[in-house]
Amino acid sequence: MDRKNILCIGAGYVGGPTMAMIACKCPQYRVTVVDINHEKIARWNSDDLPVYEPGLDEIIRATRGKNLFFETDIEKGIRESGIIFVGVNTPTKTFGAGAGKAADLQYWEKTARQIREASESRKIVVEKCTIPVKTALAMERILTSKDGDIRFDVISNPEFLAEGTAMRDLEFPDRVLIGSRETPNGIEARKAIVDIYLNWVPREKIIESNIWSSELSKLVANAFLAQRISSINAISALCEKTEADVGEVARAIGLDSRLGSKFLNASIGFGGSCFKKDILNLAYICRTYGLDDVAGYWESVVDINEYQKERFILGILNAMFNTIAGKRICLFGFAFKADTGDTRETPAYTIARRLCEEKAELVITDPKAIDNAKTDLADIGGITYEPDPYKAARGCDAIAVMTEWKLYAGLDYRQIYDSMTKPAFIFDGRNILDHKGLHEIGFNVYPIGKPPLVHFT
Ligand code: UDX
Ligand code: ADP
Repeated sequence: MDRKNILCIGAGYVGGPTMAMIACKCPQYRVTVVDINHEKIARWNSDDLPVYEPGLDEIIRATRGKNLFFETDIEKGIRESGIIFVGVNTPTKTFGAGAGKAADLQYWEKTARQIREASESRKIVVEKCTIPVKTALAMERILTSKDGDIRFDVISNPEFLAEGTAMRDLEFPDRVLIGSRETPNGIEARKAIVDIYLNWVPREKIIESNIWSSELSKLVANAFLAQRISSINAISALCEKTEADVGEVARAIGLDSRLGSKFLNASIGFGGSCFKKDILNLAYICRTYGLDDVAGYWESVVDINEYQKERFILGILNAMFNTIAGKRICLFGFAFKADTGDTRETPAYTIARRLCEEKAELVITDPKAIDNAKTDLADIGGITYEPDPYKAARGCDAIAVMTEWKLYAGLDYRQIYDSMTKPAFIFDGRNILDHKGLHEIGFNVYPIGKPPLVHFT
């Protein structure tokens, strides 16, 4: 087995950046990334990368063609590599048992079978994608179901990177988690993965555990993070009723070192490919073990997220005299967070659809996500897409901030106000704008979890 040859199956948001970092930090390894999507591989080999991530271009330029390769021949990759990372997607199932809740493991299982068929020597198979607990067991069963004496060791090494900060998270991780079977072979395989990370991650940040703890930790980390957002969003609703300011509340509680100040920004709700999927997955696992109360507890985190989006829509309707039919509303941002073009589970999607149902005319602007927005909303006609925020807002009745792109905080809002229909409204779904300043310009301003600043009596 050639342990200096690493393969990653799946060239997505996780596989691409992670392998780029490994290639950059470990020149002694040859890293190959493969994908069934040939167009994606072609883009990884071009200047137009399929993933936008600050700092990624530079690392790709420095490693591609040297010890980082993007290829389409998956079987060759499997044959030639001793360590195989699996980073294929595991979306929520849309059909059959567990639809809307359980993970759809068909891509993942296809990959396991492909590894089994193509392998001619011992392999260490590393789970990178988020998967339900005990998937490693299923993977082991598939891999060892063929006659023969090839040894497969399955390792769980969940990825904790967040989009938009992926390169920093990969370079300076809070921790790297590596789980395995606690058998001599399992521990030896685990060591091979530890050795990769030791090239740049301090030893004390590399945590070894049993494989089930490792798998579960990923789901639990995401569930806890999402829970914080739903908690502060639930409180934002109460703030709006009581004239408390959610920013002040977040600051006051965040200074308690037991709570910490991060992830307390009230918003239109969390998005992204992980949070909702992982919580529903966690809840589904709980239900399969008869832990219905525990499942219900975690499901409520998703319920509050849906509630927050609907609350935002109702807030717009209420402020704009209960009708937005024919009114022009500009969405500032469509990505699920800043510094990414990714729109998976973006709250802007739900909000855009609801605004269209209310017959508003939409204009969508975003520095990186317009192409994805067009694809996501392809079935709805009449939406205008405009990369320039000044042009996008021109003639609009309202602006609704969907994504916390820094650029939106630095625009010339006097110029924007002058170009809009009056009365002009701003709904700041991310609380990133200078609300007082906007109000002084003439806007009616509606933040999240703070008293609105309006010119009506
Ligand atoms: C998340 C986890 O953070 C990461 O560890 C895991 O590997 C993958 O899932 P990601 O979804 O990329 O990462 O982004 P994250 O920064 O966690 O943001 C998720 C969503 O929560 C975004 O929509 C963001 O705007 C929202 N959010 C975040 C808030 O609404 N308020 C906050 O205070 C923080
Ligand atoms: P993530 O955010 O987890 O990285 P992505 O959807 O961005 O998820 O990436 C997953 C990638 O895995 C996609 O590019 C998809 O084409 C690829 N993929 C899915 N199934 C297979 C497979 N059987 N073999 C190779 N690649 C696959």
